[in-house]
Amino acid sequence: MKKTSAILGGLLILSAAPWVVAADAPSLYDQLGGKPAIQKVVDDMITHVAADPRINTFFANANIPHLKMELVSQICAGTGGPCTYTGQSMSAAHKGMNIDSAQFNALVEDLQLSLADNHVPTGLGNKLLAILAPMKKDIDHK
Ligand code: HEM
Repeated sequence: MKKTSAILGGLLILSAAPWVVAADAPSLYDQLGGKPAIQKVVDDMITHVAADPRINTFFANANIPHLKMELVSQICAGTGGPCTYTGQSMSAAHKGMNIDSAQFNALVEDLQLSLADNHVPTGLGNKLLAILAPMKKDIDHK
């Protein structure tokens, strides 16, 4: 009888204090610092892209505010944040641009520069890169 009430008492404590039992790991979105931090990383990445002679001509006629907004929403959604990406698919967005592997890697390097500018720890930055890497097959067509 004593044992049963001890168990019941334990269950009561656990159900009254669920945070003691299950603390969900923070999403990558939260670890990166949420929307403002992601916006800053995207802003700085585009600054690096604009100064990068390997790829900046691609963006000469781009709608940069729109591109930044779509990138932020894509990264927010992909890292577990409260966003839904409503932009084009990666294959549709980059269709006919003839982007090659070196140009794709150049953009990734510009993102890495921005992650470093913003003191994002390497482990977190690599998690973000790992989410974007599979998109390569839909973006570069050479
Ligand atoms: C992981 C790599 C990349 C990601 C995640 C990415 C993501 C995106 C997104 C979300 C858009 C906007 C789609 C929309 O408007 O609905 C976009 C557009 C675009 N991307 Fe990429 N992209 C990547 C690589 C590249 C590379 C390597 C280039 C060129 C070297 C490039 C050039 C462009 C251009 C020119 C646009 C159109 C901008 C405009 O016309 O307004 N992207 N990309």
